[in-house]
Order: sequence, then structure tokens, then C-alpha cells
Amino acid sequence: GKVAVLAGGFSSEREVSLVSGTAIVAALRSKGIDAHPFDPKETPLAELKTQGFQTAFNILHGTYGEDGAVQGALELLGIPYTGSGVAASAIGMDKYRCKLIWQALGLPVPEFAVLHDDSDFDAVEKKLGLPMFVKPAAEGSSVGVVKVKEAGRLKSVYEELKHLQGEIIAERFIGGGEYSCPVLGGRGLPSIRIIPATEFYDYAAKYERDDTVYQCPSDLSSEDEALMRALAVRGAQAVGAQGCLRVDFLKDTDGKLYLLEINTLPGMTDHSLVPKSAAQEGVDFADLCIEILKTAHV
Ligand code: DAL
Ligand code: MG
Repeated sequence: GKVAVLAGGFSSEREVSLVSGTAIVAALRSKGIDAHPFDPKETPLAELKTQGFQTAFNILHGTYGEDGAVQGALELLGIPYTGSGVAASAIGMDKYRCKLIWQALGLPVPEFAVLHDDSDFDAVEKKLGLPMFVKPAAEGSSVGVVKVKEAGRLKSVYEELKHLQGEIIAERFIGGGEYSCPVLGGRGLPSIRIIPATEFYDYAAKYERDDTVYQCPSDLSSEDEALMRALAVRGAQAVGAQGCLRVDFLKDTDGKLYLLEINTLPGMTDHSLVPKSAAQEGVDFADLCIEILKTAHV
């Protein structure tokens, strides 16, 4: 049947989504699938029905796309869709509540604090130390992530960010390396080490620069590789995520691994991580798209 590749949408990651969507439409067509791009910012979602679409391949990111809203609408329309359901999407999009769940289950997360207008910013700075990361809980692609290095800056950074989506959280700096581990159909795929030429893996390092180094297989020992994959699977199960997803990790200087966040709708651009990891297992981009399409559910 006809497959709608939902791409674009309303969030700050709209451009990323459109790039992924174009690649996915081409890949699915190369496999003989009748795939078409569908941007819910331009066409009301209900037209999926009138236009005769039978399945939705969701590659929307962020607000309304990754947070359970579109998933709920698709359920009401009775159209099977790829990726996580309503609840897992909502939790996964919210870094704050996701961390609370992981913490409650004993999964390792970096120490953090939620900032409010009346927070004691000096106390937070003392507790977490410098540098620290400050970020909006419900954006993606590192939109609004700031590394705070100087004492006394926390309040002004908070003021700059508070209009963004979700609570503003401050997080202890973990300095031994950035990693990411995809999960596809409940199975962990090879981890990737990310070595940004910028100070951290920010939006530019993700999509604009060509000097970010991706190591896959990563530099983890086989024990740590197995541990990271197991933690990624447990982190996904903890929020009920399904389909294709990615859990981002930090390694501390003492080697300890921390779960940073889950991305229930990981990017599929030519800079993106899931395709690199799948390729390591011999699964090319088009086959990966077919695997993801198979995870469609109502
Ligand atoms: N939020 C971006 C798209 C990712 O996780 O790949
Ligand atoms: Mg994210």
C-alpha cells in the first residue's frame, strides 16, 4: 500500500526532518515501495485517509512529531505508524521526566537539577560544579544546549533558554567521551563514539560541519560495548519505546557509562548515527528503512 513519510513538521528540528524524509522516500522507492513525502505543516494529517495512505513512516522530530501528539492523531485515524507509541514518545521527548524514570530504576544518569525563576543558582552551581551543561528538556539536536564555564553565569543562561520547550535542566559535566547506541526492534546495535571538533556535539557538529569524527565500531572494550547495548535496551524498555531509537551516552574519565537521553525518532540524514551503526552490521540505508517500516503498528 501507499506509505506516507511524515517529515517536516513544526519543531526547531524541521530542517533535519526534511533532509531525513527525502532520503527515506528515495530509499523506500528503490525497494519498490510506493512512498511519498507528507508534511503535516502543509497538509492536515486527516488527509492521510482521503489520499489513501495505509502506513505512516514517521520521521518528524520534536514538538508534535516525536512527543506523542502525532502518534495519538495517527491512532485516532487508524493508520499504523513506525516508532514508539503515545506514552513512550511523550516521556522520551522530555529529558527531565525520562531521567526521573531511569533514576528510579537504578540506571546511571548524570547528576542534574531543574531550574526555575526562583532557583538558588549559586547552590546549583556549587552542587554540580563547573563546567556544567544547561539545556531545555524538550528540544532535540542540541538546540539550546549551553556549556556553562564561568561562575555566576547560570542565571543569565537560564533566562536565555527558558522560552524553549520543557523545563530547563542543569547537568553535571561528564568528560570522558560522547557515545550513542541505536536499538532496533529491541536489539542493541553497535555503539558509535562521537568526537566533535567543537566543544561538544552541538547542532553544527551534528549537521553542518564535516570535521566531526564518528567511530563505529567505537573504542569501547567488548565488555563496555555489551554493557552499553544492554543499558540502551533497558533505557528504551524503561519508557516503553519501540521500533528504531537511539540512546545517547557519556563516559566519565573513570570509565563509568551514563545514559544521557533517548531519541525515539533518530535522524536519518547522511550525517546521522543510526545508519552508520546499521552499516557496521552490513545493513545498508535502504534495508534499514525497510526494517523500520516493518515495525509499523497501530
Ligand atoms: N534529534 C535528532 C534528530 C536525533 O536524535 O537524531
Ligand atoms: Mg534528543
